[in-house]
Amino acid sequence: MGTAAEMPVGVVGAGTMGAGIAQVALEAGHSVHLYDPDPAALDRARGRIEDWLNRRAAKRAASGGPAASGGPTAPGVVAADLLRGLSVASSVEELAAGAGLIVEAVLEDLALKVRLFEALDAAATPDAILATNTSALSVSAIGAGTRHPGRVVGLHFFNPAPVMRLVEVVQPSTAEGPVVDRAMRLMTAWGKTPAVRMPRASSSTGSTGRTHWRRSGSSKPAWRTSSSWMLRPGRTATRWARSS
Ligand SMILES: NC(=O)c1ccc[n+]([C@@H]2O[C@H](COP(=O)([O-])OP(=O)(O)OC[C@H]3O[C@@H](n4cnc5c(N)ncnc54)[C@H](O)[C@@H]3O)[C@@H](O)[C@H]2O)c1
Repeated sequence: MGTAAEMPVGVVGAGTMGAGIAQVALEAGHSVHLYDPDPAALDRARGRIEDWLNRRAAKRAASGGPAASGGPTAPGVVAADLLRGLSVASSVEELAAGAGLIVEAVLEDLALKVRLFEALDAAATPDAILATNTSALSVSAIGAGTRHPGRVVGLHFFNPAPVMRLVEVVQPSTAEGPVVDRAMRLMTAWGKTPAVRMPRASSSTGSTGRTHWRRSGSSKPAWRTSSSWMLRPGRTATRWARSS
């Protein structure tokens, strides 16, 4: 997998989720390429990330330790250092070149996401993971037009991404196991709590579909039987995932 510094991350879409995910990746030590066709969205994202990073640095300075709810940023690393790792890509192709992980966080529009994944698949290096942050669309449908659907997974961050610990790693039946395992390890390295979600083939996926779950380090689907806090029926992941 290499170190974070050796693995650039691409984030497509600079809205609420894209900005938050870009920040999490920066704090984990990656350089991040951000792409959005709307220049105003890119400006807002940069401003928002800078603001969050400064506030977290101030918190760290005040407490003399790592930020209370932050990722794995080393103490002493300040916002300006991290922001130097953020760059804007002028196209999806430029974003994809060299990225080890690409997270798509554009509008919840299936046709748009399908087109994007086709372009990302054509431009990305063969071992890059292509992830969608979709809330409710089918991950396998989003990757259906790619030549390599085995590397397409869901990485469902919750809002605000820098604060929420739970990340659902959505594993459609088309996804390759080693790709899912790499995504799990990456999310753990990012200070997150990943949980695999395996949508049923007939389901459109999404948090409302009936799904099977697997926790980090377990190969057993855990639906209904797990005692884990995040898997109890009747409790939403969001409610239980906020870090203290
Ligand atoms: N907001 C949430 O609470 C939340 C939580 C989890 C998942 N999600 C999912 O994350 C995704 C993004 O949601 P959001 O709330 O950040 O949306 P948003 O509206 O804040 O941002 C979407 C961004 O996509 C950009 N965009 C549009 N077309 C594009 C293209 N062709 N290429 C690149 N960027 C393009 C827009 O300019 C905009 O900046 C959606 O799939 C949503 O379902 C949202």
